[in-house]
Amino acid sequence: MKQAIQIKPNIYWVGVHDFNCRHFHGDLFPISEGTTYNSYLIVDEEITLIDTVEEEFFDVMMERIHSVIGDKKIDNVIVQHAEPDHSSGFTKFMECYPNAKPFASNASILIMLKQYFKDYNFTKVKTGDTLCSGKLTLTFIEMPMIHWPDNMLTYVEKEKIAFSNDAFGQHIASYDIFDDAHGLSKCIDQAKNYYANIVMPYGTQVANKLKQIQDMDLDIDMIAPAHGIIWRTYIPELLSAYQDFATFKASDKAVIVYESIWKHTQMMAEALAEGMGRNGICVKIYKCSATSPEIIMKELLDAKVIMVGSGNYNNAMAGSIAAFLEKLGSCKVKGKKALGFGSYGWFNGITKQINERLVKGGIPLLNDQILAQNYTPTTTDLDSLHEIGKAIAQEIKNM
Ligand code: FEO
Repeated sequence: MKQAIQIKPNIYWVGVHDFNCRHFHGDLFPISEGTTYNSYLIVDEEITLIDTVEEEFFDVMMERIHSVIGDKKIDNVIVQHAEPDHSSGFTKFMECYPNAKPFASNASILIMLKQYFKDYNFTKVKTGDTLCSGKLTLTFIEMPMIHWPDNMLTYVEKEKIAFSNDAFGQHIASYDIFDDAHGLSKCIDQAKNYYANIVMPYGTQVANKLKQIQDMDLDIDMIAPAHGIIWRTYIPELLSAYQDFATFKASDKAVIVYESIWKHTQMMAEALAEGMGRNGICVKIYKCSATSPEIIMKELLDAKVIMVGSGNYNNAMAGSIAAFLEKLGSCKVKGKKALGFGSYGWFNGITKQINERLVKGGIPLLNDQILAQNYTPTTTDLDSLHEIGKAIAQEIKNM
């Protein structure tokens, strides 16, 4: 029988593992080791469930719930976020517990109606509203756009726990459900990966919300997100990292993303990389079609410069680079500069197109150079690109 895991007196993790998940949110976010959908059960004078799970795993959540409360009724259910990874089990939940009282933000209620076509008579809550379940008082804090308009956090002051939903999530799928079992480095790296691939476009909202939560001076010793492990040991490091993520705090680092069939553009990428890498810059270089996009998004979060290269294919840039630029433009990155490059045969227009796409995506160009190479770079061409890389290294240090 699947068991609940107690995380505080009278508070239990009743979530599920999705070990086989390799594409989180469709094809948007490839992941390597699965994820979790976390639900939490608060057993007080009234019993409250925080979030449900993907419908596919509903029965597992129910088994874990029954392991704690048997056939007792659940009085309240809080929908912190209407995205289906957390809400698609809700309709089945309401069939099992038709008298449970559902709570959600106004934005969530509207989305739930549009997704599930039924009015569940939600109690609408906003920041500062509370639910008293007996000895415990649950306080709601809206977290709009972290990640959808409706995200919400629930804080239980007496137990010093914040149920943060998508915020502070990561894809660590394990039966060791606390951060300290996995080590600081892995936990922060996974949180960075999750942030870069899910939350990055909403940095302004994250920074504002972090400040609001700091100003509220909440006493928190546990953060229980809706994905991955629960934070209890590395909370100061996590909050500091989120502050860095939200403000795009960058190091002396460049990310080079390119596509190349006959290796001419690849030769350019490697010459630029060496010019930077030999002059004090951390350089990450990726052939776009051969690299999981999750890696590229994570690495560019704290880079100062992004170089984007493509060969010329029937007067168009490579499809992988076009897709990358589309995604990059949606991420609303700040404080970074970029530049295109690439080799061409009989149409010298792709580097210019890449630069135009970068600017359109809100990323200023490093300079007005057009790094376009006709066919194969000579040794002299590569030496020149090495020098350009060296100059970019200096520019990065000055940023
Ligand atoms: Fe985990 Fe925005 O859903």
